[in-house]
Amino acid sequence: LSKTSSILSAGVLIGCLLTTCAYALIERSRHTSGKSDTVVLKLGHSLDTGHPVHLAMERMAERLEELSDGAVRMRIAPNGQLGSETECIELLQRGALAMTKTSTGPLESFIPEMAIFGVPYVFRSEEQFWNVLNGPIGDELLVSGDDSGMMGLCWYDAGARSFYTKSTPILQPDDLRGLKLRVQNSQTAMRMVEALGGSPTPLTFGELYTGLQQGLVDGAENNPPSFWTSRHFEVCKEYSLDEHTRVPDLLLISRSWWERLDPEQQAWLRQAAKESSEWEREAWRVRTEESLKAVEEAGVHLHYPDTKSFAERVAPMHDSYDGTAVGALMARVRETE
Ligand code: GCU
Repeated sequence: LSKTSSILSAGVLIGCLLTTCAYALIERSRHTSGKSDTVVLKLGHSLDTGHPVHLAMERMAERLEELSDGAVRMRIAPNGQLGSETECIELLQRGALAMTKTSTGPLESFIPEMAIFGVPYVFRSEEQFWNVLNGPIGDELLVSGDDSGMMGLCWYDAGARSFYTKSTPILQPDDLRGLKLRVQNSQTAMRMVEALGGSPTPLTFGELYTGLQQGLVDGAENNPPSFWTSRHFEVCKEYSLDEHTRVPDLLLISRSWWERLDPEQQAWLRQAAKESSEWEREAWRVRTEESLKAVEEAGVHLHYPDTKSFAERVAPMHDSYDGTAVGALMARVRETE
């Protein structure tokens, strides 16, 4: 009996010690944050840690920590560690993930208006594209996920997307005939490749390198920094800058997480997001040039096809949105300088 009771009292003692330690740790975190408990916002995304959009989010995390004196932090999981973009959006909706950075491509299935960015040759220029994002249309789209449990914090530049293939230079739409091309999980991307005569194959970004290597697809399309940081250029040697779409990246927060933050915390988050998006636009310009140079040095042939024939081929796709919400947005875009 005495053996049992000494085991029991040793157990109680250890239990007390552990509880004291736990309290000490909580107190410490309260103390260092200077406020109540630290809020940690986990962010999942698909890009590599060398990508300018990842770097912009790292800056945001630093700035948020600074503004909040350590009370609000972000923990970033890159490279699709938490799942594909679609999976991260679903986690966010359920509140199982606080934040995600996604291309608007996969968002179309959740917020139909986002399809505006997937329709090829909708924007006349980069300038007009940014006037749209920074104007009323961009602001409306940031809050358009309200009913779907998510909210946009800021846009990130993701440049223009162009085709790259393992060995076929794409100089005119007919060159896409018979080619299997990876597309994002996006209806408009599927329709665009079909309209141009190729065979669209949806794959997640994380699956693509192996998909190209193993011949599951003959090519894909993306912006220069993503073509470079994903190392797809190691397999694809022909990059045709037809710049068919401008599909931006978007930083999203789960509504349930947002509502748990107090107004001061929300203001810090907005401020840090705004600054990171401004920083990224500048970094994007530099990295686009660097990426093109780097892939060329690695043996990739760059082509600058005449985009007119591509735009003509997808004109019926534009007409198909007449009378829809996306069609109405397209009309407003046309009126934007
Ligand atoms: C871009 C975009 C990513 C996206 C990728 C893709 O790189 O920034 O968010 O995952 O395209 O093609 O899937």
